[in-house]
Amino acid sequence: MKLFTKKSDYQHYNLGQNRLGLVPTMGNLHQGHLNLVTESLKENDKTLVTIFVNPKQFGPNEDFSKYPRTLEDDLSALKGLTNSENILVFAPESTQEIYPPGFNTEISVHGLDQTMCGEHRPGHFQGVTTVVYQLFVTSKAHVAYFGQKDYQQFKIIEKMVKDLQLPISLKMVPIAREPSGLALSSRNQYLSNQQKNEAIILFNTLNELAKTYLKDPSESESLRQKYLMSSRSWQYLEIRDAETLRIPDKNTFKVVVAGAYFMGDTRLIDNVILKVRD
Ligand code: PAJ
Repeated sequence: MKLFTKKSDYQHYNLGQNRLGLVPTMGNLHQGHLNLVTESLKENDKTLVTIFVNPKQFGPNEDFSKYPRTLEDDLSALKGLTNSENILVFAPESTQEIYPPGFNTEISVHGLDQTMCGEHRPGHFQGVTTVVYQLFVTSKAHVAYFGQKDYQQFKIIEKMVKDLQLPISLKMVPIAREPSGLALSSRNQYLSNQQKNEAIILFNTLNELAKTYLKDPSESESLRQKYLMSSRSWQYLEIRDAETLRIPDKNTFKVVVAGAYFMGDTRLIDNVILKVRD
């Protein structure tokens, strides 16, 4: 395994003819992240894992400063994977490696950010696309791996790749969950054991809504409203066309049922994708 802490060192590394997979992360790696890396290791000669807590995607009242930074543990977790000798890690030693002084450019993908997380985290997805664009260009990867856990993020990055005709393909990897069903997240460690048990309400509700949608979409809409009214912990609970992220219509063939739920101060997100017709 090889570690780069400077962008220029990575750029001088000779990748040769190797096919490269990219796994962008903010570190504090858990099994969800490792599944992306494993998938990439299977499909590529080399895999570049980036570890960078990107300030631009955090709002002023969000957890940027307390976001867990655990580089040593992350490197050990990666070393433990089969074929870890094919892993390259880029963990910028400072924010300036990504955003040099005077950096003043932003990538915005319009439209898909009007709902779900985008509606409640202004500027978040611009922060994501601005860093991911740079990682795509710097890495020269052939394929990049993202989790379904951040479904809206995936759709927005997919649109950026399409609109800018970037020479990279994307793969979405299923959500890794705890046995209880709780989606793995670096933010789960903010939760007490009791909160972890309670947090399963998020996944259970999404499943309930999905089941109801299959029976009767209008009933699922009333149920959605009922859940939203039942607790102030819901930041959003949406049933959307999985492609457009708009309200489903007659052309919809897949829906995403997605929610953000506050467990104390900790914001958790999850989603379920549902095929509604062939
Ligand atoms: P981060 O939250 O660290 O997640 C990195 C990648 O891991 C994302 O593609 C995310 O969807 C995936 N992931 C997280 N939890 C997962 C789970 N339980 N199952 C499967 N995949 C999971 O997402 C980001 O970082 C950032 O926005 C980033 C893309 C790195 C840009 O800064």
